[in-house]
Amino acid sequence: MGQLPHQHNPNVLVGYDTADDAGVFRLDETHALVQTLDFFTPVVDDPYQFGAVAAANSLSDVYAMGGQPITAMAIACFPDKGLDLEILSQVMRGGLAKLQEAEVTLLGGHTVTDPEIKFGYSITGLIHPLKIMKNSDAQPGDVLVLTKPLGIGILTSGIKFGRIPAQAARRVVEVMMTLNRAAAEVMARHPCHAATDVTGNGLLGHAYEMAEGSGVAIRFESNRIPFIEEALPLAEAGLLPRSVRTTWKMIEDKTVIGKLVPEALKNIMLDPQTSGGLLIALEPGNLECLLSDMKRGGVEATVVGGVENTTGKRLFVD
Ligand code: CO
Ligand code: CO
Repeated sequence: MGQLPHQHNPNVLVGYDTADDAGVFRLDETHALVQTLDFFTPVVDDPYQFGAVAAANSLSDVYAMGGQPITAMAIACFPDKGLDLEILSQVMRGGLAKLQEAEVTLLGGHTVTDPEIKFGYSITGLIHPLKIMKNSDAQPGDVLVLTKPLGIGILTSGIKFGRIPAQAARRVVEVMMTLNRAAAEVMARHPCHAATDVTGNGLLGHAYEMAEGSGVAIRFESNRIPFIEEALPLAEAGLLPRSVRTTWKMIEDKTVIGKLVPEALKNIMLDPQTSGGLLIALEPGNLECLLSDMKRGGVEATVVGGVENTTGKRLFVD
């Protein structure tokens, strides 16, 4: 989309030029629309759970902007032979249950015939134009908080190959199905500077976008990175989603990894997440209050690093 001619509309508050989570369009002084679309191939075998994960994932981009999601449109691809339509019905039921949990209304949708199942939503939300949480407003001195553990991509591909224990499989589905709503509501109650959700580009890829957009550098403390523990042996065995390598290629020139950081941990930080957590930048003075509020809201929030002035490099992992 970066190749498209520039549009000049003063009501576009966030457009496609800044690699942010969702677009924002001003309606009047106090209201703006937040809009996003996301759909993908199944990440779990159970169709109902797949629908719920797809809904939580699509809603997440609105939460990451600080918006309140209000309506949803479904988008589905489904084969015309070989699969029972009941599967699609289960996917949609799982998605609707998650939308209802988020108090979001499904308005309609569209299905096309395709050899491979794909499913997701376009979500519309509302936000006050002065309260948009961009990914490009992180300030030097800020601390960074992450609200879900990593390892989702490694573990969901591990499930496909039957390589992980049942308990870890349940845990990864539970993490993906958890809405970022509670985390976003806590974020809205505290003066935070910037946020994004960690999805396909992994923690490092999305942190890179935040650093680049904000004109700063981000430093992570690798020993504080939360991840689902069963992801580690898979990462050590080199069982990694393909995008771990492509994301690394994109950022390696601007990234410095400390000599003592294990390769497996670096790869967990590059692991593509489905319905991952929020990465939030805020002043250290507001940290304790935010963390205790997160805990009360049932969110496992962890400090993972901080924001610095840049001297050319964007990311450091110590
Ligand atoms: Co996003
Ligand atoms: Co997205």
